[in-house]
Amino acid sequence: MLDHDKTDGDGTGQSGKGVWKSGKGRGRATPKGRQYDDVALAEVRALLGDRPRRRDLLIEFLHLIQDEYGHQSAAHLRALAEDMRLSMAEVWEVATFYAHFDPLRENDPVPPDLTIRVCDSLSCELAGSETLIAALESGHDPAKVRVLRAPCMGRCDTAPVLEIGHRHIDHATPELVAQTLEAGDLHAVIPDYEDLAAYLAGGGYVRLTDLRAGGDWQAVQQTIADSGLRGLGGAGFPSGKKWGFVRGNAGPRYMAVNGDEGEPGTFKDRYYLERVPHLFLEGMLIAAWAVEAERVYLYMRDEYPAVLHILATEIAALERAGLIEPGYVDLRRGAGAYICGEESAMIESIEGKRGLPRHRPPYVAQVGLFGQPTLVHNIETCHWIARILREGPEILSSVERNGRKGLRSYSVSGRVADPGVHLLPAGSTIRDVIAAAGGMADGHVFKAYQPGGPSSGLLPASIDDVPLDFDTLQPLGSFIGSAAVVVLSDHDRARDAALNMLRFFEAESCGQCTPCRVGCEKAVKLMQAKIWDTGLLEEVSQAMVDASICGLGQAAPNPIKLVMRHFAEEVGGGVAPMPDSDGYDTNDALDG
Ligand SMILES: Cc1cc2nc3c(=O)[nH]c(=O)nc-3n(C[C@H](O)[C@H](O)[C@H](O)COP(=O)(O)O)c2cc1C
Ligand code: SF4
Ligand code: FES
Repeated sequence: MLDHDKTDGDGTGQSGKGVWKSGKGRGRATPKGRQYDDVALAEVRALLGDRPRRRDLLIEFLHLIQDEYGHQSAAHLRALAEDMRLSMAEVWEVATFYAHFDPLRENDPVPPDLTIRVCDSLSCELAGSETLIAALESGHDPAKVRVLRAPCMGRCDTAPVLEIGHRHIDHATPELVAQTLEAGDLHAVIPDYEDLAAYLAGGGYVRLTDLRAGGDWQAVQQTIADSGLRGLGGAGFPSGKKWGFVRGNAGPRYMAVNGDEGEPGTFKDRYYLERVPHLFLEGMLIAAWAVEAERVYLYMRDEYPAVLHILATEIAALERAGLIEPGYVDLRRGAGAYICGEESAMIESIEGKRGLPRHRPPYVAQVGLFGQPTLVHNIETCHWIARILREGPEILSSVERNGRKGLRSYSVSGRVADPGVHLLPAGSTIRDVIAAAGGMADGHVFKAYQPGGPSSGLLPASIDDVPLDFDTLQPLGSFIGSAAVVVLSDHDRARDAALNMLRFFEAESCGQCTPCRVGCEKAVKLMQAKIWDTGLLEEVSQAMVDASICGLGQAAPNPIKLVMRHFAEEVGGGVAPMPDSDGYDTNDALDG
């Protein structure tokens, strides 16, 4: 036993004397730190109601304050800390991590009532977001309207896009903004979708009910393996195989669903959720059954308010129908942080913390949510699990093109005539994808493409015969990831697209490790020079690949390396060939 345990009751070792009186000074007239304010505490308590003050609900509570007041005052944050028995530092570090929160110090100005977030990621930049931002900034009084840049909102097929309140404006113009403000409805538009009654009428949830009544999880796992389904969040891990890993660890086990969809250019998850949410929900519940998950945490990005509404409505309908216990599916709202799509960062965020990726091992299948084995699946992966079990593994395994099997939901945007989600054979080449998207847009000649989000870099039009599938692009220093295809034309410069991508990574790096944090920042500076310092960029890239903790920092150099290799004339010429990026496996990199 330590001495202070014997001598005093308060752990100061001073037998009742206040610790600040024991030194030489005269002591403090006031207690240390910010004190809470009674009014703010009452306001916070009114907002939180009788919700349990659990640490993992911190982000949900921060949302309540942000939604009610449009910002988070120091007084409210201090009161929240008091009410949750947390330190102010813990609350502050979480509030400042997420882009959709506005935590304020005492003397900070309160943001205007209205915020317009304009997407400045690649497809929106190609569609004129810079001009749009300039017009909005000059057309509005900054005291009344705040114009902010924001990363991809998952609506790249209707670029440029912005969000006012919770209302998105597709093909945005200053005139459409003015009309929306005049109409005054800033709520999300809820699309028509297949609700529970319609899904049940078509035979929905029969498979789930049968399996729960006496199914064999290993037989289901085999069916998934026969279909060839691989994780569609980007890493491509064989889906059924994961279940065995998770089950190999003693329970309680959890499932966490990744609805972050933050990779710019990706909008397939939103596409399915806004149309057939129950295919996803049934697939999710089948996977949860297979690993005997105690509870499912569904992490959905805040940029999708319509989807959040649909999911909340349909989860409540499932509870009423007795298909799930109340509270079995816990819907969590992200708060604007791309890195929370990385599975361990997502788990940290569900636990109410900053989204800092964890070191591995242990893997989340072993030590995941709340320290327990956790199955993580992407939204679209769950959608296909339901389809495979309802329609048979052949819906994927019988499709073959260019030696590849299966189907792929390509999110296609940029300089094509008909952007959107196009479901095609997984062996499709970029020429097939462009053809499915109605060909090139009028007046545009195909020049380059991003095959799978900025992490996959850029390939030239000359590489047009490679199937855009898992494992096929690695020899080219790229990978398919979430199949977010952005097509560039002779109107565009590859170097500008690469700079856009690196600016995104710079803004979204969690900052935890130096190679990524400093590397992204340095690369953005170097890439603005007319002639790139290719030697230094190569060095920076290598350090990032070698020493970053997670896939963000490891894959961020791909656009730099591929532009130097294929578009050398744009960055100064005379570039030495780069080694292929097979120093690491990008599929592994995506999972850290
Ligand atoms: C930086 C980074 C961002 C990611 N973003 C997402 C995402 O938005 N959605 C997603 O499902 N997976 C994302 N992933 C992949 C996840 O870590 C994980 O592999 C995936 O959710 C597992 O589900 P799956 O096997 O069904 O694909 C990301 C990975 C990295 C490294
Ligand atoms: S690589 Fe970047 S995003 Fe990933 S942990 Fe390191 S700093 Fe964070
Ligand atoms: S919505 Fe703007 S790039 Fe995706």
